[in-house]
Amino acid sequence: MKKTILTGIRPTGNLHLGHYFGAGQNWIKLQNEDYDFYLEIADIQALTDNFDNPAKVRHNVREIVMDMVAMGVDPNKLHLFVQSMVPEIAELTVIYSNLVTMARLYRNPTVKTEIAQKKALFGNSGESVTYGFVGYPVSQAADITAFEGQLIPVGEDQLPLIEQCREIVHKFNTIYGQTLVMPEPLLSETPRIKGLDGAEKMGKSLGNGIFLVDSEETVKEKIMSAVTDPDKIHKDDPANPEKCMVYYYHKLIKNKNINTVCEECKAGKRGCVACKKELIEKMIEFLKPIQEKRKELEENPQIVDDILIQGTEKSIKKAKETMKKVRKSIKIDYFNEE
Ligand code: TRP
Repeated sequence: MKKTILTGIRPTGNLHLGHYFGAGQNWIKLQNEDYDFYLEIADIQALTDNFDNPAKVRHNVREIVMDMVAMGVDPNKLHLFVQSMVPEIAELTVIYSNLVTMARLYRNPTVKTEIAQKKALFGNSGESVTYGFVGYPVSQAADITAFEGQLIPVGEDQLPLIEQCREIVHKFNTIYGQTLVMPEPLLSETPRIKGLDGAEKMGKSLGNGIFLVDSEETVKEKIMSAVTDPDKIHKDDPANPEKCMVYYYHKLIKNKNINTVCEECKAGKRGCVACKKELIEKMIEFLKPIQEKRKELEENPQIVDDILIQGTEKSIKKAKETMKKVRKSIKIDYFNEE
């Protein structure tokens, strides 16, 4: 039996190099191995903190599909689908909500951090936080279990959500009998990708990332402003490449010239401007095939529709099977008794 993989992403913006190297490459590797792989675009989850901006979420569903396919996600090798198009997920969410306490939800470290970050939406001390947002781990447990996901590829920040899902599964199976499949996280081996500003994480909204859709002009501007070794004042000062984001990105996109970049930088034989110019060139080259593929999709919106319809059909079928088992276990299968 093939193992089932499930993971998800919130459609709140385009994909950047952090997604590409942190998650995307792993998806592409896994889609070529022997798994049943569900990749969810979590629009309902995105609405939990974007309920006031549905147009943004809707727009980004298609954007993310185009970004994913352009970078190598193959919809023929995995099931790419949209959360809201599988209503069984919402049904399961309601059923699971009885199995988790409010106190437990408030303690979830990921949710706690997010509430604290979203002051404009949820108030300075989280006093305006919604039921939907505090409860999104329950909805994420439904995402996972609807497809009987066993391995859940995620970054470290998602571990508390997987743990919460495991608790729900355990409680469900204890009360209603063995029904749901127990998932486990599949931690990515790639550490977090750092931002151009040297921050620990490249983020959608932090303004420190290079996006797969960035134009040559934007790539130039962003790389020219990247953080370099602050102790290097003059063009021919020797510097420490480990303190330099330009070097970090040369390495990330696997510049074949990387040893020269490193040696020249250490020896003071390479000015930062020249080094940045080389990176700009290599970065544009790196993005080119992705952007070409993406252009094809932009010009043929029907391809994106077809991808989603195809992935969603298969996903609905699987979720319906799970739903049938769940209804039976909690004795609400009134007209289906065997
Ligand atoms: N919470 C995840 C994120 O913000 C996205 C997500 C939604 C997800 N559903 C999931 C991840 C199910 C793993 C499994 O990145």
